[in-house]
Amino acid sequence: MKLTTDRLILKPPAEEDIDAIVAVASDWRIAEMTLVPHPYLPNHAQEWIGRARENWETNGIGGFAVFTRHDGAFIGAAGLRLTETAGHASAGYWYSPRVWGRGYAPEALSALLRFGFEDRGLARIEANHLLINPASGRVMAKAGMSHATAVELPHRDGEGMVAGFSLHIDAAEWRALQSSRLSA
Ligand SMILES: CC(C)(COP(=O)(O)OP(=O)(O)OC[C@H]1O[C@@H](n2cnc3c(N)ncnc32)[C@H](O)[C@@H]1OP(=O)(O)O)[C@@H](O)C(=O)NCCC(=O)NCCS
Repeated sequence: MKLTTDRLILKPPAEEDIDAIVAVASDWRIAEMTLVPHPYLPNHAQEWIGRARENWETNGIGGFAVFTRHDGAFIGAAGLRLTETAGHASAGYWYSPRVWGRGYAPEALSALLRFGFEDRGLARIEANHLLINPASGRVMAKAGMSHATAVELPHRDGEGMVAGFSLHIDAAEWRALQSSRLSA
């Protein structure tokens, strides 16, 4: 399974990526906005690889490691996972601060949406972000998600909940967006 965009390659994470994954995922600026473990050790990368493999095999969707096409560098993660509602999936992602501000996150999220709706026939893709992480909300909006609703999200230390937003896009909305972008 491999997705290619103008500047990125998305493929399931593999053992050969472990060193690069640890180097990027160890950054607190990623952990503080996500449930990514901190400190991030090689066994965490191994667990992610195993979980992604199982999701791909069981559900036909899962996590991707994201690489830049121009130099093959690992820059982050993006993926889909099924929710409890049939036909719905949630998207998640994190990127090395080294490459923030270049538009890679919405580029990869757009590829995930295309994959989810066109290849996997999903009805809805949603994503959540913390209130203190408006940049991620902007990434979701740039990829076409809307319907922002205030939600409570699990705190990364496992204790209590924190304020956030949930956004989503339905298959029909995504198709309408593609048509409007084509005719623009
Ligand atoms: C969230 C994250 C993916 C954004 O990546 P990025 O490379 O900065 O994304 P982009 O550059 O494509 O776009 C970010 C957008 O948010 C905007 N933005 C940045 N900081 C912002 C802020 N404080 N408030 C509002 N918008 C903000 C940017 O201006 C940009 O929008 P624009 O293109 O319209 O100007 C990245 O910061 C990250 O990986 N963070 C840590 C992990 C994480 O938060 N994952 C998501 C969990 S929900």
